[in-house]
Amino acid sequence: MPDHNPPAAALPPGLAAPPEVPWPEGLTRVPYWVFQREDVAALEQTQVFRGETWNYLCLEAEIANPGDYRATTLGGVPILAVRDHDGEIYAFENRCVHRGALIALEDFGHAREFTCVYHAWSYDLQGNLKGVAFKDGINGQGGMPECFRMSEHSPRKLRTAVVHGLVFASASDTVPPIEEYLGDEIMERIGRVLGGREVEVIGRFTQELPNNWKLYVENLRDSYHASLLHLFFTTFELNKLNMKGGLIVSESGGNHVSYSAIDREAEAKAANDYAAQNIRSESDYRLKDPSVLEGEDEFGDGVTLQILSVFPGFVLQQIQNALAIRQVVPRGVGRTDLHWTYFGFKDDSPALRKMRLKQGNLVGPAGYVSMEDGCVGGFVQRGVVGASDRHAVLEMGGTDAASTRTRATEASVRGFWKAYRACTGL
Ligand code: FES
Ligand SMILES: [Fe+2]
Repeated sequence: MPDHNPPAAALPPGLAAPPEVPWPEGLTRVPYWVFQREDVAALEQTQVFRGETWNYLCLEAEIANPGDYRATTLGGVPILAVRDHDGEIYAFENRCVHRGALIALEDFGHAREFTCVYHAWSYDLQGNLKGVAFKDGINGQGGMPECFRMSEHSPRKLRTAVVHGLVFASASDTVPPIEEYLGDEIMERIGRVLGGREVEVIGRFTQELPNNWKLYVENLRDSYHASLLHLFFTTFELNKLNMKGGLIVSESGGNHVSYSAIDREAEAKAANDYAAQNIRSESDYRLKDPSVLEGEDEFGDGVTLQILSVFPGFVLQQIQNALAIRQVVPRGVGRTDLHWTYFGFKDDSPALRKMRLKQGNLVGPAGYVSMEDGCVGGFVQRGVVGASDRHAVLEMGGTDAASTRTRATEASVRGFWKAYRACTGL
């Protein structure tokens, strides 16, 4: 009998079923199924977050002293970052090896050791199991078997690295050192904001986004939308595409910087360009209290906006004097937590500190700018329902993912997909 069943097409590794449509070659098309499928989300956990990547955990300043810890997350997996008495930072899963309860329940704290609340198993500051309650039983009865070895049980440990006060971790033994992963230009731009400074956290909050995490990462790397979606930016001349500035995209595509500087000469021309395209960039709205816009050139280079991202989900923001870290955490296919940490420096003058706090009203979940980014990902997630066989079009500014002087481009969004595809094999 002839075999009438054609051979099944090779499935992309890690997918449970064939994709609705193949992902075309190149960087200018993104199939919508990538934002919609459970098997893609599962694949990302192993290939992206626990794969060949470095992931932001916390600020070094949050765990300054031996015994300080921070309960954080890596791609949604609970992680403890701890400073031990040798001064080093250790990271391990916040998961008791007995029956899986969280080892630490608070987001921050100071500990001599960790004791799980469930059955009181205890751990040292490096995540080694050190105690099992009633290990030898009571009155010769019960207890753990002879063959049980505490040394054979510990939560999974991560590699850690610190860059200008930022703590990163990796589950991979083979990922290159963090300096290489970031590249010189990204290192330099992180150093521009954080180098040699003593950080002080001045506020934090979490924004729940109604969309896939990758839609937020696209958005934050999308210099094209900034002056179009965010009327506030253009009305108050904080960011227009014809300002001086540019984009840096790392070789891998995964890391990027978008920056701009106020250039008063270009402003008259900018107004004309936006008017000529009939873009809703000007309005009659004015602030009653314009002091929210006041800032100072604290880095001495006139750059008023620098958004820097590290693949997969880290952001360092400088918008005027509002400095923040954003950590992107997937919480399922259509939900994302965005953790914001606002900071200043120990040597801030009172006036500068006040400016930072005031400008925090521009960007943040209740701010003029970020509430829009918090919505627009949800508009896409809802818009692509029923379109898992269709693609997004990313052709603005060409087809590559290279650094450029213009921000009228989607080069850094293409860069994200370049790194993503290399990581996932999709
Ligand atoms: S689950 Fe932690 S001690 Fe039992
Ligand atoms: Fe935005």
